Amino acid sequence: MSSENTANPTYPPSSDLVANAHANEATYDAMYEASISDPEAFWGEHGKRIDWIKPFTKVKNTSFEPGNVSIKWFEDGTLNVAANCIDRHLKTRGDKTAIIFEPDNPEEPAQHITYKELHRRVCRMSNILEDMGVRKGDRVVLYLPMIPEAAYAMLACARIGAIHSIVFAGFSPDALSARINGSDAKVLITADYAPRGGRQTPLKSNADAALLHTKDSVKCLVVKRTGGQTTWVDGRDFDYNEMALEADEFHTPAEMNAEDPLFILYTSGSTGQPKGVVHCSGGYLVFASMTHEYVFDYKEDDIFWCTADVGWVTGHSYIVYGPLANGATTLMFEGVPTYPDASRFWQVCEKHKVNQFYTAPTALRALMGQGNSFVESCDLSSLRILGTVGEPINPEAWNWYNDVVGGGRCPIVDTWWQTETGGHLLTPLPGAHATKPGSAMKPFFGVQTVVLDPHSGEEIHTYPCEGVLCLKDSWPSQMRTVWGDHERFEKTYFSDYKGYYFAGDGCKRDEDGDYWITGRVDDVINVSGHRMGTAEVESALVAHAKVAEAAVVGYPHDIKGQGIYCYVTLMNGVEPSDELTKELRTWVRTEIGPIASPDLIQWAPGLPKTRSGKIMRRILRKIAEDDFGSLGDTSTLAEPGVVDDLIENRMNKG
Ligand code: WT7
Repeated sequence: MSSENTANPTYPPSSDLVANAHANEATYDAMYEASISDPEAFWGEHGKRIDWIKPFTKVKNTSFEPGNVSIKWFEDGTLNVAANCIDRHLKTRGDKTAIIFEPDNPEEPAQHITYKELHRRVCRMSNILEDMGVRKGDRVVLYLPMIPEAAYAMLACARIGAIHSIVFAGFSPDALSARINGSDAKVLITADYAPRGGRQTPLKSNADAALLHTKDSVKCLVVKRTGGQTTWVDGRDFDYNEMALEADEFHTPAEMNAEDPLFILYTSGSTGQPKGVVHCSGGYLVFASMTHEYVFDYKEDDIFWCTADVGWVTGHSYIVYGPLANGATTLMFEGVPTYPDASRFWQVCEKHKVNQFYTAPTALRALMGQGNSFVESCDLSSLRILGTVGEPINPEAWNWYNDVVGGGRCPIVDTWWQTETGGHLLTPLPGAHATKPGSAMKPFFGVQTVVLDPHSGEEIHTYPCEGVLCLKDSWPSQMRTVWGDHERFEKTYFSDYKGYYFAGDGCKRDEDGDYWITGRVDDVINVSGHRMGTAEVESALVAHAKVAEAAVVGYPHDIKGQGIYCYVTLMNGVEPSDELTKELRTWVRTEIGPIASPDLIQWAPGLPKTRSGKIMRRILRKIAEDDFGSLGDTSTLAEPGVVDDLIENRMNKG
C-alpha cells in the first residue's frame, strides 16, 4: 500500500512480513551502525557464517591509497567454496533439492537435483577435469547454456581450486578466444548446442572457431545437451557425458586460502577491451551468502529464482554461490521470458511455487508491453519477494511489477551493484524499508557509500544532493584486481577520486538518505541490463574495411533502457546504403556478439572534434538523445558545420 504522499509514494512492507523478516528497521539500523563503527568485529562475527578449514584470525586488511591499492579479507583463513556450497549441507539437507532445472522447452520435464546428487555430479566433474590435467590455480573457461552442468563445472573448479572464467553463450567466437587467451586457460568447457527460445545456438562450432585462435594445447570438454551433430577433434575434444559414467563420485576438496581467486569474469569499461575482474574465495562467499539471505529474506524452505544467466555476475552470486552456500533451492532456467509465449516466467513461478523472483527491468518492460493477461492467467500466490537488477527501473515498470506481478503484497528489492562489487551494495531490505519506485534505497551492512562532487571530488554531506557514487572503504566481496594488470585496476577505479572506489555511476540522495542511481557517467552504456563499452563497439566498427571512423553513444530505448547509436564515417569513395548498414550490424555481431548489435547507424561525413582532434561525445550523445536544445558549449569545435549536418540527418528512433 502506498503512503499519503503521492508525489513521492513509499511502499512499507506488511506487518506480517516485518514480524517474520530477518531484519526489521531497528535491526537494520543497529547492524548497519555496528558494521561501520567496527568492521573488524562485525565481519569477524559474520565471516563465521561459512565453514573454514583453518579459521581466520585476521579480518580486514585493505587500502584504497593511490599507488598502493590492496584488498584482503580473512587473509589467513582457509576454506573450500564448493564444500561450503555442497558438502556441509549433506548431513542436514542431503535429500533437499539444491537445483531445479527448468528446460527451454516446457514439454521437457524439469529436473530436481538434490544436494546428494549435486555432490556426486560435482565430484565426478572434478575428477574429469583433474584427469584432463587441471590443477589448483589453473584457468578453465566455461561457454555453456543455462544447464545444471554449468553449475557443476563452476563448483568442480572451485573444488579443485581452479579458477573459472565464464563467457556468456551469446558472445562470438572472437570474444571467446580473446578470453581463453587472456587468462591462458587450459580447458574450455562447452556444450554441443544451447537451446533458447526454441532455437539452438551451435556452441560447439563457435568453440571450434575460437580454438583456431588459441594455443594448440587447450582441451575442450563437451556436454551433450541436445545430442546434435558436431565436429570432433580427437585428442582435443572430450565427451563429458561418457566420462561422467566412469568417473569416481568422490573427490576431496582442495584447501584454499581466502584470498585465492575463485573466478575471473570479463566486463566492459569505458576504455580498451574488457577486463578480467578477479574475485576471491572467502570474502566473496561470505558477502554473496549474506546478501542472499538478508536481501531476499531467504528462509529454509523457500524456492529462489534468479532469471539471470551464469555468464553474468548475477548468475554467479545469486544462482550458484549465494543460494547454495545457504543450502537453498535455486532454480535454473534455460529459456527466455517470451517462449513459448509471454507467460513463461509466470508459468514457471506457478509450476515450481517460487517464493523469491529476481529479474531485470528490461524483461519487465518487454513483458509489460504484452498485456496483463499473461500474468493474470497464472497463480502467483507463492511469491513473497520481488527483485530487480542491472539498470535503473522506471516507475511505470516498478508499479507494474508491484501491482500486477506482486499483487501489491511483495516488497521489491531494487539492488544496485556491479560485476566488480561481487554482491549487492545498495538495496532495501524487505522487512526494514518502505520502498520507493526507482530507488535502490540503502547501503547493505558494511557498505560505505558516499556522494562526491564530480568537480571538486569532495564528499557531499547535505540532503538532498546529487553527484557521483563512490565507496569510502572496502567490503568483503570487492574485486581484488584486474587479471594480469593490477595497474589497470588502480587506474580504472581509484584514480578519478583519490582514496575512493569510483563505481562509474551518478546518483541522487534524497532527504531520507535514500539513493537513486541516475546511470553511468562514463562511456559505458547499459543495453538490456548488459554493460557495453562504447569503445569496444567503435573498435569493432573501425576494423571493417569500409569504415574510416566511428563514434558510439547510448540513447534512450523503451525496452532496452539504452540502445546503441553509431555515427560512422566511411572511407573515401564508399557510398552509404541500407545494405551497408546491415553488413555493419552483422559485422559487429560477429566481432563481439548479438548483444552488441547496433540499433541505429548514422552516416557521418564528419564527427564533431575539438581543435586538438578529440571527439566531442557530449554533443553526439545529445543528438542521439534528441536533445538539440542543450548542446552546450560548441565554441571549441574545429568545424561547427559538422554538427548541423548530424542534427539534420539524425536517425529516426521509430
Ligand atoms: C552497472 C553494473 C550487478 C549485476 C548486473 C549488472 C548498473 C546495476 C542497477 C540498479 C541502477 C544499476 C549500474 C552499474 N546497475 N544495477 N539496481 N539500478 N543501475 O552488472 O554488468 O557489472 O553492470 O549496472 O550502472 O554500474 P554489470
